[in-house]
Amino acid sequence: MSQLCVIGTGYVGLVTGACFADLGNQVVCMDVDPERISKLKQNIMPIYEPGLEQVVEQNVNAGRLSFTTDIKEAIRDAEFAFIAVGTPSGDEGEADLQYVRAAAESIADHVDHPIIIVNKSTVPVGTGDWVAEVVTKRRAGKALEFQVVSNPEFLREGSAVNDFMIPDRVILGSLEPKATSQVATLYQPLRCPILETDLRTAEMIKYASNAFLATRISYINEIANICEELGADVLVVAKGMGLDKRIGPAFLDAGLGWGGSCFPKDVKALDHMATMHGSQTKLLQAVMDINRNQRRRAVMSLRKQLGNLNDKLIGVLGLSFKPNTDDIRDAAALEIIHLLEVEGARVKAYDPQAMEACRKILKKTTLCKDPYEVAEDVDALVLATEWNEFKQLDFKRIKSLMKQPIILDGRNLWDARQMKSLGFIYSGIGRGNLK
Ligand code: NAD
Ligand code: UDX
Repeated sequence: MSQLCVIGTGYVGLVTGACFADLGNQVVCMDVDPERISKLKQNIMPIYEPGLEQVVEQNVNAGRLSFTTDIKEAIRDAEFAFIAVGTPSGDEGEADLQYVRAAAESIADHVDHPIIIVNKSTVPVGTGDWVAEVVTKRRAGKALEFQVVSNPEFLREGSAVNDFMIPDRVILGSLEPKATSQVATLYQPLRCPILETDLRTAEMIKYASNAFLATRISYINEIANICEELGADVLVVAKGMGLDKRIGPAFLDAGLGWGGSCFPKDVKALDHMATMHGSQTKLLQAVMDINRNQRRRAVMSLRKQLGNLNDKLIGVLGLSFKPNTDDIRDAAALEIIHLLEVEGARVKAYDPQAMEACRKILKKTTLCKDPYEVAEDVDALVLATEWNEFKQLDFKRIKSLMKQPIILDGRNLWDARQMKSLGFIYSGIGRGNLK
């Protein structure tokens, strides 16, 4: 059993804290947001993440997990301080490190015993060294025994608890092998491969992994667009490719492109750090361009079908950047809604979990109570997020409610033949075979 403090209780910090507590450790989760901490103290989750509430509740009840806004209290007995604060995009695409700096300084200000600082935030290569400098400088000569270990996080939203508990691998980077192996001990119960390396390599593994996954998606989207022109079916193309063991089936779903809290900002940040150090990033540039165009193509396709978009009523199903999360950061749906509204269309939308988050930012959009209310009177319906609850709708009812039976299935969720036989003017992504 170890004593941990986790700084930042967002998707990564809260999952990390709750899961480490579940593995038997004593964990204090700290956040600067009082509302978040107050909710957590009442077992109200600040985010929608399947399975998380139960893990939090069980471990709070077992006395292993607690929440505070007071860093002094959080760090008092901690052997490990995990940093899990946000690293959003700055103006030039760089990772904004202001929250990491604040977290590092708060550790330096309040700790008075040896500690291992474990960085879980996704940070540019070299940040581990920088964190060590920030802490040392902040101590202003007051001695502190500490090491910095990079431990990038690979969890996906929507399956975060599972991803934490059954990881493909754990990456640990440090220049202090003793500190690395102490952090490795925390992960040993998970019985997964643990790769120990230096700080900078660990930081790079995170960016290289995310950019590679984004590249796969942009690649299959480019293939999808070619399929549309040449009469092939990207679903079968991806299946055929994925059966090759060297390629594998994951992350080959063509659609409206990648969004979320990680891929967009991490590809940008990798591009930024590379170009600021003299490396060319032609591939990353193409990966980002393809992704942006994927959303624009959807709008162009609707414009083509409807003549123009001015005063047309468009329904959008799904607002979160992927199913099983309420996170709307860089969601394809939001970009498409913006583009539609700029062209004069009126938009109605529904999402199973992201309505609250959207209410604050979608000022012009009509937010509906369910898919059927969305379908009423619309000239076209766009499926932007493939939530399970959209899989088996009452399509006869949907069709009878729509003004025109035009459907753009942006995630290839529905059976094209069935939709056509029901009388919809159906298009998916990369389904050139349907023309
Ligand atoms: P988030 O925005 O959900 O949560 C960050 C939290 O940190 C917020 O609650 C905020 O109030 C808190 N915070 C900010 N400054 C603080 C400070 N000085 N002290 C204490 N708390 C502070 O962020 P997230 O999605 O959990 O991401 C955190 C990091 O993990 C990012 O670097 C991200 O790139 C990385 N990451 C995220 C995911 C993901 O799926 N969300 C996956 C892997 C890695
Ligand atoms: C991602 C990484 O997968 C995870 O390892 C990292 O820690 C955080 O970033 P996440 O953003 O939660 O996780 O979701 P992910 O499942 O990777 O999907 C990202 C985006 O890609 C979503 O918008 C999704 O719709 C899109 N996507 C994914 C596709 O368009 N096609 C695919 O085949 C897979």
